[in-house]
Amino acid sequence: MRRRGFLTLASATAAAAALTSGSHSALAADEELVLYCSPQIEWCQLMVEEFEKATGIKVAMTRKSSGETFAQIKAEERNPKGDVWWGGTGDPHLQAAEEGLTEEYVSPNADQLHDWAINQAAAGSNRTVGIYAGALGIGYNSELLEQAGLEPPQCWADLTKPEYAGEIQIANPNSSGTSYTTLATLVQVFGEEDAFDLMKAMHVNVNQYTKSGSAPIKNAARGETAIAITFQHDMVTQKVAGFPIEIVSPCEGTGFEIGSMSIIKDGPNPESARAFYDFALEADIQALAANAAAYQVPSNAGAAPPPQAPKLEEIKLIEYDFKEYGSSATRQRLLKRWDDEVGALPR
Ligand code: G6P
Repeated sequence: MRRRGFLTLASATAAAAALTSGSHSALAADEELVLYCSPQIEWCQLMVEEFEKATGIKVAMTRKSSGETFAQIKAEERNPKGDVWWGGTGDPHLQAAEEGLTEEYVSPNADQLHDWAINQAAAGSNRTVGIYAGALGIGYNSELLEQAGLEPPQCWADLTKPEYAGEIQIANPNSSGTSYTTLATLVQVFGEEDAFDLMKAMHVNVNQYTKSGSAPIKNAARGETAIAITFQHDMVTQKVAGFPIEIVSPCEGTGFEIGSMSIIKDGPNPESARAFYDFALEADIQALAANAAAYQVPSNAGAAPPPQAPKLEEIKLIEYDFKEYGSSATRQRLLKRWDDEVGALPR
């Protein structure tokens, strides 16, 4: 068995007793965990299986996009139903921290993490922590673009070109953390006015705003759209599966996410929540991600990134201001402006 320092003796004994009885009904509170999961469903399921296997704690998991999960935790504030929010982009985790929706906790495994993961914790007053990182990009289906006689876009600014009419897909930034990270990236690259002008001009080229962040590249892989804006590691997943997807790092520089994890304040199973939190920061657990075709860069310095993971040090990254764009006031204001000025436009 792997090192299991996160289980207290009491909960280990109780979990073992529950396992011996062979009945989930024997599980008392704190031998259950309600997990809100925001990365790809395959990775969520793998984490559930591994945690249940390691601890005997029964997990009830639901997968929702980052913005949707934030909205759910906010709606449940007076009667919290979830224990841990695992994964999804860091900005709404920071907003949850600022609004007091999540619990302060420093894991004994925190000293194994990269600085960027600890900086995220510091920005959220230790109510959140970084679990992975990944950069945004522009992905395209090379067969579709070739058939249409189109050159691939190289820059964010290219996405407004009339030749890409109806060819682009991106998620809605209200539901999707991927898309909010894109919005915040454009604002940081171009300045707010020019960024909104770009998004308005791009709007006529967008065939659909999806709910989930990674849906556009899955749709590009299947030939339903030529161009998709997602995280680059989500493009790698499709490439590895054999689809004709190519990856562009936009010429102006690109933004990135610190995928994060938070314990929900006053959740029903606080002891299980801390056990999961410690577990999810372990190097050997983070190293399992590639088994679920998840190619993010892990936050534990002892977990080697999967060989297929985009090399962040080779990508022109912007100095993404997580504190600013994860703040409640800025996130709410930018999303409202997007609804009013972009989402509301006819197509
Ligand atoms: C994908 C990515 C994750 C990211 C997540 C955000 O699953 O692989 O790295 O955190 O999307 O999802 P969302 O649906 O909120 O954009």
